[in-house]
Amino acid sequence: MITSADHRTPGPPAGAAADWTIPQRWRDYTPAEHAMWDRLYARQTAQLPGRVVPAFLEGIERLGFAERGIPDFARLSARLGALTGWSVVTVPGLVPEAVFFEHLSQRRFVAGRFIRTPEQIDYLEEPDIFHDVFGHVPLLAHPVFADYMQAYGEGGLRALRFGSIHRLARLYWYTVEFGLIRDGAALRIYGAGIVSSHGESLYALDDPAPRRIAFDLRRTMQTRYRIDDYQTNYFVIDSFEDLLRQTVETDFAPLYRELETLPEIEPGVVLPGDRVLPPNPPSGADSGRRAP
Ligand code: PHE
Ligand code: CO
Repeated sequence: MITSADHRTPGPPAGAAADWTIPQRWRDYTPAEHAMWDRLYARQTAQLPGRVVPAFLEGIERLGFAERGIPDFARLSARLGALTGWSVVTVPGLVPEAVFFEHLSQRRFVAGRFIRTPEQIDYLEEPDIFHDVFGHVPLLAHPVFADYMQAYGEGGLRALRFGSIHRLARLYWYTVEFGLIRDGAALRIYGAGIVSSHGESLYALDDPAPRRIAFDLRRTMQTRYRIDDYQTNYFVIDSFEDLLRQTVETDFAPLYRELETLPEIEPGVVLPGDRVLPPNPPSGADSGRRAP
């Protein structure tokens, strides 16, 4: 996190470009750092089939993630660009909101360059390259999800002008980071915060504790979220097409104003109007399932 003594948005740190990007310096990754990627990659790809939305696994295939080691963003961006026009750029850490939204609106996904250490394999506070790239990039190969992410960036620039970033941030949290999606009668994960987490990619679908509530735009932006533990509620979309349609066809300006008059909803709370979906039934045939 970049901090600044004054209250204006700080400029980029030394060595970064005006848009906050830095070189990835892919050749400087050590064998231990590449091995860490391989370990995380193997662990998640063993667990995700049958749990993650099929488009995620298709993205992994089409982007050539199966090659070993930390991806080289130049090669990854060439493949991604050919599919949906997106690229992946490197930034030093958290960037100001306006910078983040501007990149998304130009179909550039910003990723950190550092990878967690073996001590941090199950928990780290700041997103690393495994979360940013393995978690987020495969779905950017999906045309509809790719359009949603760009529209979100444009919506972010607009929300900044209305002072409503905290509302829009909840939408990101409950879709891009922690979203669930229906697949017939079953639920699948698609949020990057779940797919990159070994523990939460089981918990989000199987555990009886969290509430899995049918997605509702207003409801989502009314609901606070927790950043310190697994989620206590998830929102379930019907399809990426439906998510894109609902968000681009809605003018958020009146919604932001209306939300100022409505109470905040705490995480884990179920309201009378909520449609709560059951967790997936246990199934021995579930290919991704590990022995308990
Ligand atoms: N339609 C939103 C607005 O009027 C923009 C947006 C699109 C936000 C897609 C999120 C996702 O601001
Ligand atoms: Co993320």
